Amino acid sequence: MTVCDRLKIAYYKGGGGMSPRLLQKYIMSTSRRPLALHNSASSNKPRTSPMAEINTVVDNFTLCSPRPSAHLDTQAPNAAEVDPLSLTVAHTTLDITDIPENHVLIKVDKFGFSTNNITYQALGEHPHFRSYFDFHAAPTPDLAKTHGIIPVWGFGTIASSTHSSVQAGERVYGYFAPTRYLVLPVSALDENGCAFSVHRPHFPRDRQPYHQVIRCAADPGMYAPTPEGEDFTMIYRPLFLTAFWCEDWITGSYGCNKGKNLTVLVASASAKTAVCFIYLIQRRIKTGELPHVSVVGLTSKKNLAFTNSLGLYNDVYTYDSFELGGKMQNEKDRRWIYVDVAGNDSINTRLRTHFSSPGVGQVIKHIALGVTNLVPSTSAQSWSHIASAPDAPEVDGRSPWPAAELFFLPEWLQVRQRQMSMSGVMERQNVSWEEWMADCSRWVQLERVYGPGNVRDDYARIAKEGPGPTVGLVWSMWDGPSP
Ligand SMILES: NC(=O)c1ccc[n+]([C@@H]2O[C@H](COP(=O)([O-])OP(=O)(O)OC[C@H]3O[C@@H](n4cnc5c(N)ncnc54)[C@H](OP(=O)(O)O)[C@@H]3O)[C@@H](O)[C@H]2O)c1
Repeated sequence: MTVCDRLKIAYYKGGGGMSPRLLQKYIMSTSRRPLALHNSASSNKPRTSPMAEINTVVDNFTLCSPRPSAHLDTQAPNAAEVDPLSLTVAHTTLDITDIPENHVLIKVDKFGFSTNNITYQALGEHPHFRSYFDFHAAPTPDLAKTHGIIPVWGFGTIASSTHSSVQAGERVYGYFAPTRYLVLPVSALDENGCAFSVHRPHFPRDRQPYHQVIRCAADPGMYAPTPEGEDFTMIYRPLFLTAFWCEDWITGSYGCNKGKNLTVLVASASAKTAVCFIYLIQRRIKTGELPHVSVVGLTSKKNLAFTNSLGLYNDVYTYDSFELGGKMQNEKDRRWIYVDVAGNDSINTRLRTHFSSPGVGQVIKHIALGVTNLVPSTSAQSWSHIASAPDAPEVDGRSPWPAAELFFLPEWLQVRQRQMSMSGVMERQNVSWEEWMADCSRWVQLERVYGPGNVRDDYARIAKEGPGPTVGLVWSMWDGPSP
């Protein structure tokens, strides 16, 4: 194994979309070491192959993120070299015939990247979020001491399988790693025709949705079988589903359709998750379900024009002067539901102060939905979300501000599954998804980046500048699109 800052990139073409036989042929043709061929889908034991001279060892490239804890631990190997902003591409090799029993080898073709992934990275070791870095192990035990893997939502193809019910060639979507090849253990539980689960017994049960690997062929409600359809899906599916069920929770639980003068206030209004959320609220407003609801967005100066151009918010104010916004004044009977996607403590303190003034209405709910203000260098150990702490201090002796509630999709989904039939849940979700997919390309340009070095450089760029709201990043550790 070599940890590659010195990148060693061989010439590859992707294999997604190939037939299983072609794919296996392709993998073998990019290999180096002669080994016996193992058709692992039907047996755990390597088969003696007539093609015994064919290489079955392939190069793998994995984007690895420095662990903040390694930065602090001067005893850790390479501690001095660890720069929290600089991602490393690890170059390893993998024998595709040496997959342990009940595992799958996934060829990861591509994955989406947005602030959501930067949140995973910044909180990679944060105990409150139960360690995002624990979903995928770094490619070598040595590297695992100093680096973690940022989880990514992506598409791939099963390159080989030692689990009886998963077949090579299946197109899959899931919570993968930024790599070319990923070996995952398949759980004996939670397997169904639509998905199988990754075996991760060290996680609490509520993380189950993150372990599911969706079988695209069995997911007609959400799978769009074109390169562009897949790209928009990777970028939006995790954000849209969160927004969908959060909107379902808020509009169903907080009397949005009753009484007058209710405003939903969203911070980081340009973020994709926020846009999905407001899109869904606007659908209900248009159909007359929420006759007295309006929506106000808070954003940065640089994203003001974009946020206004969406045409989804009734009013948009910037962080530096939102207190002066017309809707923020003089309506003491107005109720506000605050949906915080920014997680910016100083903005939240100012909001609390503003809503402590007489005559400006009352915030009845504070939902903590995201933390776009976290950057990769935010220390996982020291970060605390003051504004979402239930014991946040009173402002000016008055506390009209409710304790923040964190939205966690799996919890709410469990409630809804008890209230509605599973097919009802899926139907509602899929109808909205289809509408969103037809509309979202108006607002976002896809930007595709191929190859380990280019992906690493693009990461460095967005770690500095942030992924803008107008761009949908599609990254691949392969050097070109899958044929
Ligand atoms: N609770 C959940 O289960 C859940 C699920 C999905 C997503 N989320 C969270 O929602 C948040 C949004 O994710 P996303 O992928 O939708 O975001 P995105 O589209 O990539 O968001 C980009 C926006 O983030 C804001 N931003 C604030 N500080 C920034 C900085 N330093 N650099 C760049 N952008 C900055 C900007 O919006 P403004 O200028 O408008 O502030 C920018 O337009 C993330 O924190 C994510 O983890 C939570």
